[in-house]
Amino acid sequence: MKARASVRAFRADPIPDATLAAIFADAQQAPSWCNVQPWRVALTKPPFTAELAQALITAAKTSLPHPEIAFPLDYPSPYKERRIGCGVALYQAMGIARENTAGRYDAWLRNYALFDAPHVAIVACDRRLGPYAYVDVGVWLGYVLQAAAERGVDTCPMASVAAYPDLLRARLPIASTDVILFALALGFSDADAPANRCRTTREPVDANVVVIGSHGVEKP
Ligand SMILES: Cc1cc2nc3c(=O)[nH]c(=O)nc-3n(C[C@H](O)[C@H](O)[C@H](O)COP(=O)(O)O)c2cc1C
Repeated sequence: MKARASVRAFRADPIPDATLAAIFADAQQAPSWCNVQPWRVALTKPPFTAELAQALITAAKTSLPHPEIAFPLDYPSPYKERRIGCGVALYQAMGIARENTAGRYDAWLRNYALFDAPHVAIVACDRRLGPYAYVDVGVWLGYVLQAAAERGVDTCPMASVAAYPDLLRARLPIASTDVILFALALGFSDADAPANRCRTTREPVDANVVVIGSHGVEKP
């Protein structure tokens, strides 16, 4: 699990069909509430992925984001500090200084180029099931990320792409009963790309997990 990291620059070579099928077959084993399996996924291959990316870049340059589920506007502490840490790690890896507004804009736009990935999965969920089904899709995402990593396939989950749902709906078979949650870029890392040197940190377990024993709160 520690070996996996988000990749933000991909090589052009596509994932072999058998590998792609095996990753998503593994992820089908994800548990879900009452086994409803609510993930609804449209997975692209070349050359369609690049056509979608081109349309997304245009949308990102010319229109305002309008995700179907509101993005967080404000991150209270301690999430704000963690979020900043994530951004700093990425911009440092890419050699983009804090005051380099144009460089940061270009780096943001790379999301809509889908980081040049040969494949993108647009991940939705049946909206009639409510928020607990989003939990199920999150569990499924973890399975996909791990199954991909174990097969030498790199990934980057991307909420950013969910900001342009009209464009995605016009080009992909997404049911009106589904809500678009995020995208997932898949492919093989361009090992020389500076963005792929980015590594994030994690809090110690006791920042997130409280263990309560017979004498009260223990450290996990
Ligand atoms: C639901 C979700 C949405 C994300 N959206 C984006 C995104 O839009 N752009 C991006 O570059 N990374 C995105 N990420 C990747 C996170 O930034 C990354 O997982 C986090 O910083 C931890 O780094 P790691 O994946 O390398 O361990 C997303 C991750 C998740 C799980």
